[in-house]
Amino acid sequence: MTEALFYDPARTFEDNYANGPFNMDQKDYRDGSIKSQFTFLGFPVQSPFGIAAGSLPTSRHTNAAFTLGYDVVVYKTQRSGEFPSNPFPNVLPIDVTGDITLDRLKKPFVVRKEYPTDLKELSITNSFGVPSYGPTVWQDDLTKALQGAGTGQLLIMSVVGTIREGMTATEYYNDFAVAAREAKDAGAQVIEINLSCPNVASEGVICYSVDAVYEICKLTKEAIGDTPLIIKVGYYAPEQQELLETIVEKVSPYVGAISSINTLAGEIVKEDGTQALPGKGRLRSGICGAGISWAGLDMVQRLDALRTQKGYTYEIIGVGGVMSPAEFHEYRKAGANLVQSVTGAMWNQYLARDIKATL
Ligand SMILES: Cc1cc2nc3c(=O)[nH]c(=O)nc-3n(C[C@H](O)[C@H](O)[C@H](O)COP(=O)(O)O)c2cc1C
Repeated sequence: MTEALFYDPARTFEDNYANGPFNMDQKDYRDGSIKSQFTFLGFPVQSPFGIAAGSLPTSRHTNAAFTLGYDVVVYKTQRSGEFPSNPFPNVLPIDVTGDITLDRLKKPFVVRKEYPTDLKELSITNSFGVPSYGPTVWQDDLTKALQGAGTGQLLIMSVVGTIREGMTATEYYNDFAVAAREAKDAGAQVIEINLSCPNVASEGVICYSVDAVYEICKLTKEAIGDTPLIIKVGYYAPEQQELLETIVEKVSPYVGAISSINTLAGEIVKEDGTQALPGKGRLRSGICGAGISWAGLDMVQRLDALRTQKGYTYEIIGVGGVMSPAEFHEYRKAGANLVQSVTGAMWNQYLARDIKATL
């Protein structure tokens, strides 16, 4: 059987961009006649489920996701200028079972030869470095992506700032605002900023710096006005709880929703112990899929508790290891307003349909 894939790891990023998605079911699984029972950031949505930033780099991909009934989908993160992809390969399966705990992350992960067929065992590393063909290309395509949303469906545009030579910290922070403004100008109704990419050595994971997160959110919100802003963050370890609380307090005036988590970072090696992904700065790489659901769930619980305790109004997007309806429901119970998947939906195009059957 030919595998249906939103994003095919056996092909380069450029090939996926130009030719994907691959072998998807063309049937329309939406039923716009049903009145939406759910809302997200004030938008009526058919279901509180969709696809997070990553596997959908063009409007062909987002349109395929909408048709398959993913109701809140994110266009893969873009930049204010051109930026190359990390070298191929960009996705590899890793040999691990059970939760990828903070302790387990201290030891390297060995890549597998084959992808497991049981999605409960599917954990992968992904390492792209947030490639972008620049705003003139993606703004035009975003317009097409927005047109693909049916009744009760919502497209979120994800952007990130770019460090360029000679930039000051403020100029870098402002570049998030520049990219977000470009997204707004192209018609984006909701904008997400990626503060948690672990795969660009020069930019680093910015969500652990109070000043950076605060400045970026303030500048971005000033640039996009009343368009809702989402921040995508990584995992904060229990000893980082105070840091998380400080950041949430400082950004709460600007942020409509917090999406959590991105990936957990670990060392990825071949069987002989050498670096698996080619190139500088790629020994450590983001890990996602089944093994990280514990971390996403933990973050959602903590963000929900904080929201109740302090009276914040942000909505919570639970991301990480949603491979089946079971994890979707766990995230909802933990307090997620919206749940999204990347890895699970990449290998099971029917995940939205399966989840909706349990609503
Ligand atoms: C192929 C792939 C590409 C990704 N690209 C992005 C990205 O461009 N921006 C982003 O914020 N997160 C990106 N991510 C991270 C996902 O949005 C998500 O946070 C992470 O994969 C955990 O969810 P999962 O376990 O369902 O995959 C990517 C993930 C994958 C698998």
